[in-house]
Amino acid sequence: MDYKKYIAEKLNVEGVTKEELYDLIALPPNTEMGDYALPCFKFAKLMRKSPVAIAEELKNGIMSDEVIMSDRVLSEVSAVNGYVNFKINKGDFVRATLDKILKDKENFGSSTEGNGKTVCIDYSSINIAKPFHIGHLSTTVLGGALYRIFNYLGYKAVGINHLGDYGTQFGKLISAYKRWGDKETIEKGGIRALNELYVRFHQEAEEHPEYDDEARAYFKKIEQGDEECQELFHWFKELTLKDVQKVYDMLDIHFDSYAGESFFSDKMQPVVDELRAKNLLIESRGAQVVDLEEYGMTPCIILKSDGSSLYATRDMAAAMYRKETYDFYKCLYVVAYQQNLHFKQFFKVLEMMGKEWSKDLVHVAYGMVSLEEGTMSTRKGNVVFLEDVIAKCIEKAYKIIDDKNPNLENKEDVAQKVGVGAVIFGALYNNKIKDIVFSYDKVLNFDGETSVYVQYTCARANSVLQKGGVATEFEIPELTVEEIELVKALATFPDTVKAAAEKYEPSCVARFAVDVAQKFNKFYFDCKILAAEDEKTKNFRLALTNATLQTLKNAFALLGIGIPDKM
Ligand code: ARG
Repeated sequence: MDYKKYIAEKLNVEGVTKEELYDLIALPPNTEMGDYALPCFKFAKLMRKSPVAIAEELKNGIMSDEVIMSDRVLSEVSAVNGYVNFKINKGDFVRATLDKILKDKENFGSSTEGNGKTVCIDYSSINIAKPFHIGHLSTTVLGGALYRIFNYLGYKAVGINHLGDYGTQFGKLISAYKRWGDKETIEKGGIRALNELYVRFHQEAEEHPEYDDEARAYFKKIEQGDEECQELFHWFKELTLKDVQKVYDMLDIHFDSYAGESFFSDKMQPVVDELRAKNLLIESRGAQVVDLEEYGMTPCIILKSDGSSLYATRDMAAAMYRKETYDFYKCLYVVAYQQNLHFKQFFKVLEMMGKEWSKDLVHVAYGMVSLEEGTMSTRKGNVVFLEDVIAKCIEKAYKIIDDKNPNLENKEDVAQKVGVGAVIFGALYNNKIKDIVFSYDKVLNFDGETSVYVQYTCARANSVLQKGGVATEFEIPELTVEEIELVKALATFPDTVKAAAEKYEPSCVARFAVDVAQKFNKFYFDCKILAAEDEKTKNFRLALTNATLQTLKNAFALLGIGIPDKM
């Protein structure tokens, strides 16, 4: 039951909609005051009364309403300092919440609200032959989480890896490969070997500017369909995808489409034609651009002076293609905030072209991730590969686990779940727009706001259930504050998942998991479960433990993090 909704529906405040009431109803800082509170300050001006008087009036209205009283949903309503405080009937609430979780199991928190709607999610979108480095961590795990969250809410999520597989850098690679490369080294070394070639090209081209001309010529050849160049290009692509797949497998990342930039290289003429027909193209220093001065932006360049297309042009073709192919309800681009202008520009140009669906394009921007040790640059070659970061986290996790519990079975498997979880959670825990500095010690802290803390809590819950059994039949005993707080937290899961989708913010789910784990641990230490005072209490506590474990599993599944049974 959604108590907030119940309260909002039962309250009548003139001139205020139910939705506004719903949004205003908050959780008071402590349960003693009430379970929900409605601040009346915002109504003062509208009603020309003091918040204190309004709260008093609202309270009296509810208390004298026979229907509300006979519902037995609210056990107490009070007016204090301009707030109406509501206490709900805890026994019924706890019963309803646990019943729902234990009945819905792995579907608790899911919904059908998105049925019939498709959400395209452009994420990870790696660049061919370039390192898959720590800078791609956020887009990959944020996008992956959004993909699962939207599916969980009944939408059809379409994961798109908009490959960066177009541009002169491929000409550079061919030139470098032909000059210094050999098949075997590249085959064995994958992205790393390709990147070395790329770095060497840049170093040597400084003294040999003619290499750049050669590279441009090779790129032209790829475009013109030259057999040898095409073959090399596809080979580079294959090698890159094979390499990153290892990381995708570890992070549980899936795509439905790999249509990247080159896929659109022959689909841009219609875009250019339409822009021209709509009189949106102007010439500027030889290039064809759309003027955006009116919107406070620099022009969006569509064609360079040599007639070649740009990143924005390909993105416009891609957006049109996606609308046609998937008829999306929303199309998300999970891309770093450095590209803010790019997205604003081409979204605007599509709007100017009269595409009413351009309002459904969303740039889900996120902040930078850097390692404590310092950042990197692709051209210079001092990059931090994501694969290495994950491997290092797993290795460190293994050491910690081995230290704490040397006799644990399946240590490798546990270390894998803990290490990978730490990487994912480290990138997802904070509001996505924040820049983060990735620290191994921090993400692997058993006592921090970390995935391993949640995983450890689950192992603890699991061990209690192993010993006590899973109670399917239970009654509600006299409840403690810790129990009520925990159940209240669990009950917010469906709303949390919805909020995560609405705000494109998987951190909501990550924070939820930490909050529930903390409340479970408080309950675990303050209330005896297996040694409870009576059978009724023990059964109830086992059911609560079971419901907590289920909910945490659901939350972590959405983030792509596994939970070991034992730790
Ligand atoms: N490959 C690009 C990069 O690494 C990201 C592409 C994002 N997606 C898009 N449709 N522009 O910067």
